[in-house]
Amino acid sequence: MMFFRNAAYVVPMRSFERSVTPVLDTAEWTPSSWRSRPHTQQPVYPDADELERTLAQLRALPPLVTSWEILALKRLLADAAEGRRFLLQGGDCAESFDDCTSPLISNRLKVMLQMSLVLVHGLKLPVVRVGRFAGQYAKPRSADTETRDGVALPSYRGDLVNGAAFTADARRADPQRLIRGHARSAMTMNFVRALVDGGFADLHHPEYWDLGWVEYSPLQAEYRQMVEAIGNSLRFMETLAGSPLGGFQRVDFYTSHEALVLHYEQALTRRVPRQPGWFNLSTHYPWIGMRTAALDGAHVEYFRGIRNPIAVKIGPSVTPDQLLRLADVLDPEREPGRLTLIHRMGADKIEAALPPLLAAIKAVGRTPLWVCDPMHGNTETLGTGVKTRRFGNIRDELDRAFDVHVAAGTRLGGVHLELTGENVTECLGGARDLTETDLARAYKSQVDPRLNYEQSLEIAMQIVRKHGAAASPRVA
Ligand code: PEP
Ligand code: CO
Repeated sequence: MMFFRNAAYVVPMRSFERSVTPVLDTAEWTPSSWRSRPHTQQPVYPDADELERTLAQLRALPPLVTSWEILALKRLLADAAEGRRFLLQGGDCAESFDDCTSPLISNRLKVMLQMSLVLVHGLKLPVVRVGRFAGQYAKPRSADTETRDGVALPSYRGDLVNGAAFTADARRADPQRLIRGHARSAMTMNFVRALVDGGFADLHHPEYWDLGWVEYSPLQAEYRQMVEAIGNSLRFMETLAGSPLGGFQRVDFYTSHEALVLHYEQALTRRVPRQPGWFNLSTHYPWIGMRTAALDGAHVEYFRGIRNPIAVKIGPSVTPDQLLRLADVLDPEREPGRLTLIHRMGADKIEAALPPLLAAIKAVGRTPLWVCDPMHGNTETLGTGVKTRRFGNIRDELDRAFDVHVAAGTRLGGVHLELTGENVTECLGGARDLTETDLARAYKSQVDPRLNYEQSLEIAMQIVRKHGAAASPRVA
């Protein structure tokens, strides 16, 4: 805190100082109207002129996605809310600029393709695939500063903002990183698009999705049997039809990130020809994190005016009344596919915290897409200071989420996970029963611990095993 009182770190941006508008829904929205609201988790840029110059550059650069992709995704999410599809949203807690490499991107894609195959096969539902990638470069932090050996520096807020190294230089919020983040997002997206359009996702070649480093595991055997069965059905159908069946060569992949740094999001908020309103063209499906979901805050103000499908993370402290008001501000028209509510309660809290929220939303006749994030309510710090999550808690929260929705007469339409295709040891447990000693072996995350490949596949199988029946019936 002290650190930011240093005059060099005060943002001389007068618009921040305007008084807060008390009326929420009726006030005029503009891409910059968030600036007049209380804003948290924003970087403090030492040089306001440099920031403005950089934002002008960013505004002139091409967008990363198109409005018609965004609207197509909104229709798919509306289907998911009605039980006709299932959402698989996953990726790193935070991407880093250094991790914008071919193997990291393709391995993450491979895991998600394998998981979605398991889900499609087991749930008998099409899966909507959304990556936490191509823009997941900013992180909310619990404190503005980090102190080591008596030295306080600004916290690392993700590569979009500053560097992770504990030096004053690295921790300085650097506007050039906004441009680099845009470029890295474009490279990631370009590679993903080229892969999926070029046949990487072809169901005739599931071997393309094999991960080089995976040794024999019982999960692999189960997965292979399933792939074999699907391949046989496909060949059988094609023999009957006398030609290859269309539609199996490619899949759609959409992108999402926490839209945290509002200067960045604003610069990519654009109008498009032949569509009313404004679109955030930095990603298809931005979400508001739990720490920035205040009703009168800058993030809610920004999100209410964009036409993308949007999501909000909901923690155990949200009250039914707050949630209803949030839904009214963010989705006043009750537009199908517009609003996703991602609950992240913790395995031990979900059974008490979620039912009142489900009941309140149901009672007013809203049908948002409900998604479970079983990661963020189950983070713990070990005695060694290492941040981890227990696979058992992640699985239990998911299991309980399905049960709580069934009891409430609502539907869990998707899952939101932190995962990687790398051979990491960050979460405890799972098929190989990783122990605290294993964590030291391959812990790579700068932020939250991620599921590795095997743990991810196991979660997909678990969803199918225990809850396929609950998830698949259609809503009339
Ligand atoms: C995240 O998704 O990485 C995150 C910070 O989540 P939450 O806002 O739910 O804590
Ligand atoms: Co996280």
